[in-house]
Amino acid sequence: MRMYDLIMKKRNGGVLSAEELTYLVNAYVAGDIPDYQMSAFLMAVYFRGMTEEETLAMTTAVAHSGDMVDLSGIEGIKVDKHSTGGVGDKTTLIVAPIVAACGVKVAKMSGRGLGHTGGTVDKLESIPGYRTTLSREEFFQVVNQTGLSIIGQSGNLTPADKKLYALRDVTATVDSIPLIAVSIMSKKLAAGSDCILLDVKTGSGAFMKTLEDSAALAKEMVAIGENAGRRTVALITNMDIPLGHNIGNSLEVIEAVETLKGKGPKDLTEVCTALAANMLYLAGKGSLEECQSRVEGVIADGSALERLIAMAEMQGGDSSVLRDTERFPKSPYSHEVRAGKTGYITVMDTEGCGIASAMLGAGRETKDSPIDHSAGMILHKKTGDFVREGESMATMYASKEELFAAASARYEEAVTIAAEKAEPEPLIYGRVTV
Ligand code: URA
Repeated sequence: MRMYDLIMKKRNGGVLSAEELTYLVNAYVAGDIPDYQMSAFLMAVYFRGMTEEETLAMTTAVAHSGDMVDLSGIEGIKVDKHSTGGVGDKTTLIVAPIVAACGVKVAKMSGRGLGHTGGTVDKLESIPGYRTTLSREEFFQVVNQTGLSIIGQSGNLTPADKKLYALRDVTATVDSIPLIAVSIMSKKLAAGSDCILLDVKTGSGAFMKTLEDSAALAKEMVAIGENAGRRTVALITNMDIPLGHNIGNSLEVIEAVETLKGKGPKDLTEVCTALAANMLYLAGKGSLEECQSRVEGVIADGSALERLIAMAEMQGGDSSVLRDTERFPKSPYSHEVRAGKTGYITVMDTEGCGIASAMLGAGRETKDSPIDHSAGMILHKKTGDFVREGESMATMYASKEELFAAASARYEEAVTIAAEKAEPEPLIYGRVTV
């Protein structure tokens, strides 16, 4: 097989066989195909797309390029969840314990934040002592005992994706829907769960800015999951406004705890209830309505919060901060961002809100930047709310006072205040199944 022929076939709109795609992925990882040829192939895919059979074959090859996690040491059905990323998205911290409290296992590997979006691993590391790196035996033990474990990505998972993503990043081929679907789903297949719930975000703070693109990505990923033998459903949810009120690592853990106590913000509670109910549905726990009432039950009786606490303790975390969130270490400085005029908030450029929070120290610009776990912001007003000139729209937290001027300016730039109230947008746009 010659890479030249495969590039030409795709460039001319042809369909590659599973054998050809497997060759291409394996030879690239082995160093037998140079970056310049793979770049040309990726660009051909960018313009020509891929069929459902091609995305499945390429995803399978990328998944098998490294370790395939075997979760058979954990009893029962395992359900995974993936969010395409957003601002204030602390849903994993809420839905994983809920699902575990309902009797379905969650053995989850999560990522770190980059750019304007946060990462679950960074959020969990704001719990003093919490270990996000566990041995395989410890990981299984935590899941078998508490029903869930959330750790960072470990081992040699999808090396082909790492290499391909780095190349896409510098060849303007990241925003190709089939390539994104291959990248995300290869990691999900390799992570070993039986069922996969995808939370595809849409809007100004999401990777996919339009509903059309988000729906197309959701459909491709659901098809890959189902064709690979994993029960898969996607929800398309709103990321045109930050989720909940808190942005930043320990601030988001605090809001997750409040939500698990039944005292969380309405939008966050609604999205988490839908995500958790769908995870239970995938695991065969009844109709969506039955699953929804199970979710409400484990929030009301406190058992979901107890699962989060149990997992944190088994992973070395100081659970006193979860029992009393006032005990979380606090930023030494705070700053109020005041409304420049009176009116309704009509737009929150959500990526801008995420960038403002990252500028306070809550996020990282490159993968090696340090994180300030206490930094971030609490939003007092969101899209649709009325504000008076001089009223506080948000409180910012940082370890250095000099960070406030630029972060506050970035935040104010992201928020539009107008005389007329805007029409509210849906929180959940749709549910995608095969
Ligand atoms: N997230 C991924 O994991 N891969 C992509 O290609 C895009 C977003």
